[in-house]
This record gives sequence, structure tokens and C-alpha cells, in this order.
Amino acid sequence: MEDNLITKVRKSVDIVDIIGERIPLVARGKNYFGVCPFHDDTNPSMSVSREKQIYTCFSCHASGNVFNFIMDYDHVDFKTALKFLADKAGIDAGNIKLTKKVQKNDHLYEAYRLANIYYQNNLKSVAGKKALDYLKDRKIDNSLIKKFGIGLSLNKKDDLTKLLLKKKYDLDDLNRIGLSNVDFDMYQDRIMFPLEDIEGNIVGFSGRIYRDSDESKYINTKESSIFKKGLTIYNYQRALEEVRKSKQVIIMEGFMDVIRASSIGVNNTVALMGTAMTNDQLDIIKRMSNNIVLCLDGDSAGKKAALAIGEHFQKKGIEVKVVTIPSDLDPDEFIIKNGEAKFKELVSKAINYSDYKIAALKENINFDSDLELSKYIDQVIKETVRIDDDIRVELILKNLAKTYNLSYNTLEKRFRDYEKKERKEQVTIKKPQEIKKITKYDKALYSIIYYMLRDDKVIESMKEKKIIYPNETAKILVNEIIYYYEKYGEVEIADFYTYLDGKEELIMLLNEILQLNLPDKIKEEDLAEYIKVVKDYSKNQAIKRLKEKLEKEEDPLEQAKIAEEIKKIKLGE
Ligand code: CTP
Ligand code: MN
Repeated sequence: MEDNLITKVRKSVDIVDIIGERIPLVARGKNYFGVCPFHDDTNPSMSVSREKQIYTCFSCHASGNVFNFIMDYDHVDFKTALKFLADKAGIDAGNIKLTKKVQKNDHLYEAYRLANIYYQNNLKSVAGKKALDYLKDRKIDNSLIKKFGIGLSLNKKDDLTKLLLKKKYDLDDLNRIGLSNVDFDMYQDRIMFPLEDIEGNIVGFSGRIYRDSDESKYINTKESSIFKKGLTIYNYQRALEEVRKSKQVIIMEGFMDVIRASSIGVNNTVALMGTAMTNDQLDIIKRMSNNIVLCLDGDSAGKKAALAIGEHFQKKGIEVKVVTIPSDLDPDEFIIKNGEAKFKELVSKAINYSDYKIAALKENINFDSDLELSKYIDQVIKETVRIDDDIRVELILKNLAKTYNLSYNTLEKRFRDYEKKERKEQVTIKKPQEIKKITKYDKALYSIIYYMLRDDKVIESMKEKKIIYPNETAKILVNEIIYYYEKYGEVEIADFYTYLDGKEELIMLLNEILQLNLPDKIKEEDLAEYIKVVKDYSKNQAIKRLKEKLEKEEDPLEQAKIAEEIKKIKLGE
């Protein structure tokens, strides 16, 4: 791919706009700040520089240019990010070929795409009448059928398998990815809902029975090299745009719920396809939006799931909101029964997870028992420690004091105790990251690199120097900068990031160096001093080794020799 196409696209967009479309940014001084989407945080630890066209997180050290951001945020490969940004800038990126990883699975995705077309056609055929009636009965009309690619597998034993074999597919492959079972079709006589990965490739199906039957309601594609249930979020791609616009994502259990919500124009929804949520799903959802609403089924399983999932998010520092659907209904049933306005009202009344949990703690408590009551109050207080709002905390504690006729001071004291404990735990968690020693030699070298990225003259002066480096990664980085400079005639940091792509260690070091808060320009004598310090490194290393030798040496004559050597090095000979 053309280097200059990449550079052209990069220069045609503004990283502040692109990131700003995805996470809220606030201007402060020369830079913009926002909550970093790449780690668990609620503080604005990510800075975005319009001048340098890069972003940097002070906390998790995520960093890079606009391509890196889109790749990580949207979970796409470089070519897709490039294409997306080229489109945005109105640049014809031509026929950018897909990367190897995608090419490798291309024919498997194609099998799923063909299967989906086949299933969709079945539903439109005469044989699909009964299934279509079932869908109409459930108020799934043609536009929803089309939008969600709903189809039908027939009771025909091996139609799809034959069709794919004719297209030169390998029976082993079809078995491996769950489309065929030996030489039969895997799915027989079910309404087929295609499942997509987060890039939008169809990678599996969920098949629902639609006639009276004792069989399991849904059959899902088995895990394969392309279908991972724990990574699947139903409706992810379709919801993205709407999530960005509405700045909110609604999580549901089933895809029927998502489809129903779409029928009333609520399109910022995704489904977990059950009540469990994996870490991967959490990470993907949390990147979609920081306003997350749980809208699970109203039955006891749904309520239990809301507590578990809310807790999972809270452990990652995110407080979700929870919708409670009345009378054991699921969102699909609620909407059918009560309509659009009532559903939207319900969502707008979603409560914070901590309030939801405090209310839930109340259930099954015998308030006549002092022991149970005190346990309950204790749990509520523990919960309030996680609330990041003093006024809310005070209200909850005052309310508790009033309701159970306790003194506010007692409750507050308990609150402070838990708060202290919590803080201690946080400190111990954070510690390992903070122990990172930088020697004075590293410091000097990093300062040199800092200025190499700002001043061509510093690069020139480093080209000549023969230095033994105190730090191998830094040495490679220096050489990369020199190489890049000689090739392109200048070093624009944002483009240099593209060049370093995949070299994680170098990128991390670069990021660390860019965070040094040094004056804009370097004085010549300061540069000379930095270089001197770096050069001192090899000298001091030699001296250190000799001193160790000296300590072990017992022969006075040998000792004198070593001392002489040390002296020579110190004098710079
Ligand atoms: N599910 C599943 N296997 C099952 C039951 C459920 O994989 N045997 C998953 C499906 O992805 C489904 C979700 O769990 O979308 C929620 O299940 P459920 O609430 O039972 O389904 P509904 O969405 O209510 O579907 P329907 O209205 O068609 O019964
Ligand atoms: Mn349902």
C-alpha cells in the first residue's frame, strides 16, 4: 500500500474530530481530554493533541494516531480503518485489499453468507408459508425480516450441504463451522436468525422452532474458529451508529427483544443471547458507550442477571442503569402489550445500579430480626461506598437512619470505615504499576529522543554519535527515528506511529517519552549535557565491574592494578 495514501488520509482528518465523535472531549490548554475507552476508568485520563495528531492515555498508556484509535475502538483492522477515514475525507482509497487474517477466513464467511441467502429464500418460498405465518403472528413484518436477515431451514435433510458442496466447499469445513452434520444440514425446519461477529460477518445462526415441538426452543451454532459465543453481541454492527447518536446502549437478553425494539424505532440495542455476560462482551459494550442501560427480562432470572451483570460492570468502575420490566415480561412482550410510549418511558426511568442493588438487598430480609436487619443495613452502607456522589450517599444514609430509627452518626462512622478499607485496597492494587525505575541515563536518553521528535538538528547530531546505550529498546527507537528521518526527510509523530505499527515495545516507550513535560526547545548546552550523561553510562558500567572485582581481590598488587584502571577510566582515557 502506498505510504503517501496513508499519510494523505491521516492529514485529511483531524484526530480531535474523529475521537470526539466517539467519546466526549473537553478542551484544556493546547490539548483535549476524555475518559479513555481502553481501560476501566471514569476520569479523563486520555489526552488528544490537535497539534501532534496523536492521543495518549496517562493511565493505561494506550497511544497512537487516528488509525490506531479507530482500529482499537471499532475493533477493525488497519485497512478498514484507512478505508473508513478515507471515505470520511472524501479520498478514493481505491480497492484496498483485505488483510491476511480476513482472507484466511474469507471462504468460511462466504459459506455463511450463502447459507443465509438460501435460508432467506426458503422463507419466501411456498415451503415457508407456515414459518412466515408464525412470524406474522408474532408481528414480525417483512421489513424486520429483511433487516435482520431472518430465514428458514427446511426439513430436507441435505439441501444446503449439497448446495455448498457444489460451490466447492469441503464437507470437513462445513462440519467444522457447524453448517453440516456429517452429510446432513445441521439445521432442520427452524426459523433462522443470522449471528454476526463484531465486524459484521455472519458467523453462526440461532434456529428457533416454530411448530409445536418438544425440541429445544433455540439451537445455536457450535463454537468454531469463526463463531465464539462469548464474543458475540447480537445487533452490534447495526446498533453502533444509533448508539453513537443517542449516546446510550441498551442491553437485552434475547434477539427477539432487539428485533421488537427496532420495530418501534429503538435501534441502540444489543442482545447478549442469554443472561450471562463474558469479560469480552463487557469490554466491547463498554467501548460502545459509557451510558449503559440493562433492560433484561422481568422474571426472576432476569433480575438475578441484572444484579450479576451490574456487579460485573461495577467491578470495572462503570455504573450501569437498570430498567425493571413489570409482571415477568420480557422487552418483546412488554412492547407488544404496552406499546412504544410506555416502553420508552420505562427506559427513561432506569435507575442507577447501586440503587437497584440496594432495593434488591431488601428482598427476603426478615425485618423483625435484629440480626438480619443489621446485616442488611451493613450491606447497604457497603454499597454506598461505591457511589461517587456525596449528596446521594448522605440521602441514603439519612433515609436509613430515619427508617430504622438509628443515629446518623453511627451509620456515617460505619460508612467511613468501609471507605477507608476500600481506599486501602485500591492502593494495593495500583502499586505494581508504579514501581518502575528509570535511571538518570535513561532519563537523559529519553530527553534526547523527545527532542529528536521535535528538532531535525537533534536527529542529525545523533546520527554521528557512537554511543553505548543504557537501554536496548531506546537504542532501537533512536535507530528507527534516524532511519525514518532519512527515508522521509522529516518525522511527523502521527505518521511515525503508523510506521511503528506492531512494535509494541517501541510504541510504549515512545508514548512514555512523549509524556515527558519538557520545554518546547532544547538549548545546545543541554543537549551536550544529555549526551554526556548517556556516554557516562558505559564508563560507569566499566567502573562498577572493576570495583566489584576489586572487592573480591586479595592480592595487594592486583588491587593496585585495578585501582589504576579505575582511575584511568574516571579521567576519561
Ligand atoms: N437462548 C438460547 N437457547 C435457548 C434459550 C435461549 O440460546 N434454549 C438464548 C437466545 O439467544 C435468546 C436468549 O437466550 O435470544 C433469550 O432467551 P429467551 O428469553 O428464552 O428467548 P426470547 O428472546 O424470549 O425468545 P422467544 O420470544 O422467541 O421465546
Ligand atoms: Mn420472548
